[in-house]
Amino acid sequence: MIWTRHHVLSLAEFTPEEYDTVLQTASSFREVLSRRTKKVPTLQGQVVANLFFEPSTRTRSSFELAAKRLSADTLNFAPGSSSLTKGETILDTAKTYLAMGTDMMVIRHKEAGVPQAIADEMDRLGVKVGVLNAGDGQHEHPSQGLLDLFTICSLLDPNNPRLELLQNKKIAIVGDILHSRVARSNIWSLTASGADVHLAAPPTLLPKWFTNFVADDALPRKLSLHWSLDPAIADADFVMTLRLQKERMATHLLPSLREYHQQFGITRDRLKLSQPDVKVLHPGPVNRGVEISSDLMDDPEFSLISQQVTSGVAVRMALLYLMGGGKAG
Ligand code: CP
Repeated sequence: MIWTRHHVLSLAEFTPEEYDTVLQTASSFREVLSRRTKKVPTLQGQVVANLFFEPSTRTRSSFELAAKRLSADTLNFAPGSSSLTKGETILDTAKTYLAMGTDMMVIRHKEAGVPQAIADEMDRLGVKVGVLNAGDGQHEHPSQGLLDLFTICSLLDPNNPRLELLQNKKIAIVGDILHSRVARSNIWSLTASGADVHLAAPPTLLPKWFTNFVADDALPRKLSLHWSLDPAIADADFVMTLRLQKERMATHLLPSLREYHQQFGITRDRLKLSQPDVKVLHPGPVNRGVEISSDLMDDPEFSLISQQVTSGVAVRMALLYLMGGGKAG
């Protein structure tokens, strides 16, 4: 297919063809990353600016590494030591990076909609700068959704990861769904694949309106809600657990972390309900012993957490490559 998406801000309108293009392109870059020389000249001369207004370890480092592996020049912005502290606006910051010749901007912000606002401004100015959403508030984290998809599909068929592999697989997403941009992006991508997606959380972290999340969409999507863990993880092929986002909880939404772990924490014992070869994912950072037991997190027989981080580089290379004008597929 011809890649036409200029910005990647959300997975809500991603088509099955676009998912497969990202998966196939990431698969090619995974092969590049396995070589002795892990660098290709594809984006030589292009500038990728990482504008992270909110902390990050994985996303910022893997976008930077992905850009460098593609031979782009990278600019990293640190809000605490920037002119934001002197009152410069976010849009003026973005325009400053534009004036330096930036070709793509990777944006993270604690408020939903900031990457969209910057993309709109770039379009209004008529410049060909692609904007990637690296996580905006509680809205979306599309590159995380895509790397999770790539991790799962690569496990099912390492040589040809593709969307159809998830048809009818049962996938549970467990935890702080209310505050999770990762959950929102994964709901779009995993339900687009035909997977049977089950959300589980206490009612305070999983409002009933989530049943409507994908209700008016053109694709047939399977999404169920549970306010207890067991029905969600029973016979599940994959269990994705999410970080409790204490920084986004304005009020006390849980009795205690201990009680939360007892009810919704993923442990070896709880996983006995799932498929014998069940695999566990977590986008990180992890509250060890809260959303997942520490021993399970480190057990390569069950945990895909390291693979998720590794996948992030190849998937982000694919996104930068496609948005930078590379040939799809
Ligand atoms: N998963 C994720 O977004 O992690 P970081 O906050 O470390 O980037």
